[in-house]
Amino acid sequence: MQVLIIGSGYVGLVAAAGFADSGHHVIGVDVDAAKIEKLRKGISPIYEPGLDELLAKYQASGSLSFTQDMSAGIVNADAAFICVGTPQSEDGSADLQYVLAVAAEIGKAMALRAKDAKPLIVVDKSTVPVGTAARVHATIAAQTDRAFEVVSNPEFLREGCAIDDFLFPDRVVVGCRTAFAESVMKGLYEKKLAAAKARNPETGKWFPMDPPSAELTKYAANAMLALRISFINEIANLCETVGADIDFVKAGIGSDHRIGKYFLNPGPGFGGSCFPKDLQALLKAGRENGHPLMTLATTVEANRHQKQVLALKVRKFFGCKPGTPAPLAGKRFALWGLAFKAHTDDIREAMALELIDSLVSQGAEIMVHDFEAMPAVKAKIGDRVKYAADPLSACEGADALIIATEWPQYQQTDLDVVASKLKAKVMFDGRNLFRPEAMKQKGWTYHSIGRLPAQT
Ligand SMILES: NC(=O)c1ccc[n+]([C@@H]2O[C@H](COP(=O)([O-])OP(=O)(O)OC[C@H]3O[C@@H](n4cnc5c(N)ncnc54)[C@H](O)[C@@H]3O)[C@@H](O)[C@H]2O)c1
Repeated sequence: MQVLIIGSGYVGLVAAAGFADSGHHVIGVDVDAAKIEKLRKGISPIYEPGLDELLAKYQASGSLSFTQDMSAGIVNADAAFICVGTPQSEDGSADLQYVLAVAAEIGKAMALRAKDAKPLIVVDKSTVPVGTAARVHATIAAQTDRAFEVVSNPEFLREGCAIDDFLFPDRVVVGCRTAFAESVMKGLYEKKLAAAKARNPETGKWFPMDPPSAELTKYAANAMLALRISFINEIANLCETVGADIDFVKAGIGSDHRIGKYFLNPGPGFGGSCFPKDLQALLKAGRENGHPLMTLATTVEANRHQKQVLALKVRKFFGCKPGTPAPLAGKRFALWGLAFKAHTDDIREAMALELIDSLVSQGAEIMVHDFEAMPAVKAKIGDRVKYAADPLSACEGADALIIATEWPQYQQTDLDVVASKLKAKVMFDGRNLFRPEAMKQKGWTYHSIGRLPAQT
C-alpha cells in the first residue's frame, strides 16, 4: 500500500519505518527543513533504539523517502497519517492548530487525485480530543469534492521501545465508520498483528470502533497509567513514614491478577511528552462536559508533589532551613539522568529539569550526565548546569549523587569507583536502582523512594 506520514517526529518516524517494514511504500513529510535534510542523509533527528537501522534499510531499498512537500505523495496514497504535535494550550486543552493545518493542506492537495480514485483514508494518529475526526473531516471537505474518510487510530507506543511496540502491537484501535476504511486499515496492520500474535497470542488484537470511542480510548489509557503511577508513589511515600517497604507492598498487590504488576514502580514523578498534556486535555474535556474527573485531578496533584520529593530529600539531608537564602550554596551535586525516562532523548516535562531548577535556585552547583539527552538540555537551559562526558566525571568532587533517570548503565557502574570521586558516599536514588542493604554494607548513605532503610 502507499502511505503518507505527515509529521516526522517520535511517532511519525516510528510509524514510517514500521509501515515500510511491513512492505508498504512510505513517504514521510515534515515542515522542518533541517529534519528532512538530516533524514535524507540517513541521520535520525531523534534517539530511539532500532530506528536508525530501519530508516537506513528502507531508504536504501527505496520503499521509504522523506520530503517537505506532501503533494506528490497524496496522488496515489491509500492512507495519509497525521502525526503532528498536539501540545497543551494555555487553558489545558489540546492545541489542534497543527492537526487542522495539516487537514487543510490535505484538503488542498486532494485536487491532485483522480476524480475516480478510491477514497483517501486520512488517519488521525496524533492524540486528539473526542470530536477531532469530525473537525478534520469538515476541514478537508471544505477544500475538496474528492472522496476521503477520516479514521482515528491512536498510537500507544512507548518511547524507548517504540519500534518493538509498533512492530508487535498489543492492540490496534481503529475508529472508523465504513467497512472500506476498516479494510484499508487492516491491510496496513495485518502483518504486524500476525507477528505480535505469533510472539504472544494475548497480543495483536484488533479493535474497530467508532471514532469518538477511539479518541477517548487513548486519553483513558494514559489517564489509567498515570493514575497507577501516582497511586504507587503515594503508597511509597506513606511506606517511608509508617516504616513499610514499597518493594514488599508492590509484590504483594501486583501478584493479584485483578491488579497486575505493571506500572507499579515508584519514582520521582512522571513527565514526558504525553501524560502531562494528555491528562490536562482530559480534565478539560471532563469539565466542559459536566463530568469533572476527580480521580484524574488528584493524580495530577499527586504528581506535582512527587516531582518535588527528591529535592525535598536533598534539602532535608543537608539541613536546609526554610526562609534561608541559597541554603545549598557551596554544595555541588552530580545528577545522573535528564531524559524523562531511560532509552530516549526526550526531555519534555522531564522531572530532572524541575529538580535542576529547584536545586540551582537554592544555590547548588550541578554537574549533569545523560546518555542521550544532554544536547536537548544544553539547548534548553545552557550553562545553568555543567555537562559531564561520562557518569564518573559528573561525580568528581560532588557532595552527593542524585539519580533521576533509570538508564541501566547507571546500575552497572562500579559504586566503589563512584565513591572514590564523590566527597562523601551519599546518594539520592529516584529510581530505586540499588538495594538499601547492599548500599549500607558498602558504607553509603542511601536515600531511595518508599523503602525501609537497611537494618544492619
Ligand atoms: N511521543 C510519544 O511517545 C507519543 C506516543 C503516542 C502518541 N503521541 C502523540 O503523537 C503526536 C505526535 O507526537 P510526537 O512526539 O511524535 O511529536 P513531535 O513533536 O516529535 O513531532 C511532530 C512533528 O510534526 C511536524 N509538523 C508540524 N506541523 C507540520 C505540518 N503542517 N506538516 C508536516 N509536519 C509538521 C513537526 O515539525 C515535528 O517534526 C502527538 O499528538 C502526541 O501526543 C506521542
